[in-house]
Amino acid sequence: MSITIFSQGRNTGRWADALRERRPGLEVRTYPETVPADEVEFALAWNHPLGAFKDFPNLKCIASTGAGVDHILRDPELPEGVQITRIVDEDLTQDMGMFVTALVLNHVRCLHGYKDAQREHAWKQHRYLRTADVVIGVMGMGVLGSHTAKQLSNLGFKVHGWSRSTKLLEGIGTYAGPEELEAFLSKSDILICLLPLTKKTSGVLNKELFSKLPKGAHVINVARGEHLVDEDLIEMLDNGHLSGASLDVFREEPLPAEHPFWEHPQINVTPHIASITNPASAVSQILENYDRMRHGEPLINVVSQTKGY
Ligand code: NAP
Ligand code: GLV
Repeated sequence: MSITIFSQGRNTGRWADALRERRPGLEVRTYPETVPADEVEFALAWNHPLGAFKDFPNLKCIASTGAGVDHILRDPELPEGVQITRIVDEDLTQDMGMFVTALVLNHVRCLHGYKDAQREHAWKQHRYLRTADVVIGVMGMGVLGSHTAKQLSNLGFKVHGWSRSTKLLEGIGTYAGPEELEAFLSKSDILICLLPLTKKTSGVLNKELFSKLPKGAHVINVARGEHLVDEDLIEMLDNGHLSGASLDVFREEPLPAEHPFWEHPQINVTPHIASITNPASAVSQILENYDRMRHGEPLINVVSQTKGY
């Protein structure tokens, strides 16, 4: 009985503790701790060293410790036939909704501007936007996008979403597929990206897409850094088409000290903190899949390796 954690840069200790606490007696190993290669059947992964999985002939499941699986699928040496699962968790979903709501409110009430004014002892009132006058577009209406859209709609914003397939959500307009993207964008005063990173969505936040947003739109990216073409964002902010951006994810993380995003007056940078899986709450679905794997039962939260999410 064992689970092996493959991770670079994320708190493996909290996962190991949560697994041991919930399942005393379970052997939890952390790669590259030496283990007999044929004993590794179940992996828990976040940004594993690429190529690491190919040495384990009996590997059956790779479980992402997050909602996204792009960090697993980018490995060109993934063993064939291995199932990949992801986290779907109430805490993760709620945390994302809260964070995006905070960013939206920060933008419509100009809170960042007041912090700057305070530094200069400047009493300067900004005209603010009322919720009913703001249309928010959510790209990616999956677990996180749908919840975030509903939360913002409940606050009184006009909200609509865009995804691959059409959704039916009370009070929220939906658009689907490339043919409806332009109509969706043309009405989005605030654009929120909650798409998974796949071959189809990489670089989707580019100049051409931004040019279809209303002038003065604000862009929020809490999905992955590779969705955004960095220089296109800067160009569209500098030419005045976009009014600002809130970015939580970056092509390179940590964001390099010399990156222009740090100094840009219209960009808010946060360090990939929108929603971090809480091992104490998500560990039960990992153990459920571990048990299912051992009993030869279908796993839950399995991703499609063809679709990439
Ligand atoms: P999800 O449930 O798989 O939802 C993905 C959504 O994107 C679905 O609605 C899907 O459409 C849509 N989609 C996928 N490809 C598309 C395409 N080519 N065109 C249009 N729509 C497309 O994913 P989730 O759990 O909501 O998570 C979304 C992402 O958030 C993760 O992949 C991760 O990158 C990111 N994330 C970031 C943080 C953070 O802290 N910053 C935390 C957690 C997650 P269908 O519904 O039609 O399939
Ligand atoms: C975080 O980025 C996740 O994918 O859960």
